[in-house]
Amino acid sequence: MTLPTPGVHGPIGAPSAWVMRVAAQWPAGATVVDVACGHGRHARVLAAAGHRVTGVDRDAAALAALAAAAPDVETVVHDLEGVGWPFGARTFDVVVVTNYLHRALFASLLGAVAPGGWYVHETFAAGNERFGRPSSPDFLLRPGELLEVVRGTLRVLAFEDVEVREPTPACVQRIVARRL
Ligand SMILES: C[S@@+](CC[C@H](N)C(=O)[O-])C[C@H]1O[C@@H](n2cnc3c(N)ncnc32)[C@H](O)[C@@H]1O
Repeated sequence: MTLPTPGVHGPIGAPSAWVMRVAAQWPAGATVVDVACGHGRHARVLAAAGHRVTGVDRDAAALAALAAAAPDVETVVHDLEGVGWPFGARTFDVVVVTNYLHRALFASLLGAVAPGGWYVHETFAAGNERFGRPSSPDFLLRPGELLEVVRGTLRVLAFEDVEVREPTPACVQRIVARRL
């Protein structure tokens, strides 16, 4: 599978290299949910690569922009924290979460991973408060937290808890795990 070149989406920013690297392993036409997708930094490039993408976010304007740019993406305007998980028992081949953390959703995120499917989560981690926002512990993963979340449910393929320099200095934790 050939993925479009990252970094062509202007102000929404380039897709995460971590997400793009693992996306190269997904089967053609995978069902993907991009959770708290915003303007669709990942939803757009994954849909362009032929995946069947659903983007959910509470920001109706961002989703309208996403729908205009990528009509094949299913957009769901939804408050994930006020109302909860919107997909019931529906499962996806891939659950992607980037730069978003709401711990009460973890069980729903894992539950939405189809048999053989993938869970990809990359967001800010403890230590990031040195660089600015997010700085609240509510939005910063604790050391090893993503490993704890998937333990006993998904098989971990890759995990990092690192300080990055690009696109801006930050502390980031990221995981790729599968339901095997
Ligand atoms: C930092 S942005 C990340 C956007 C995208 N995932 C990315 O990496 O480019 C955080 C996103 O979470 C969304 N968000 C925050 N609280 C939310 C909630 N309660 N329900 C749904 N989306 C929410 C925001 O609207 C925003 O689009």
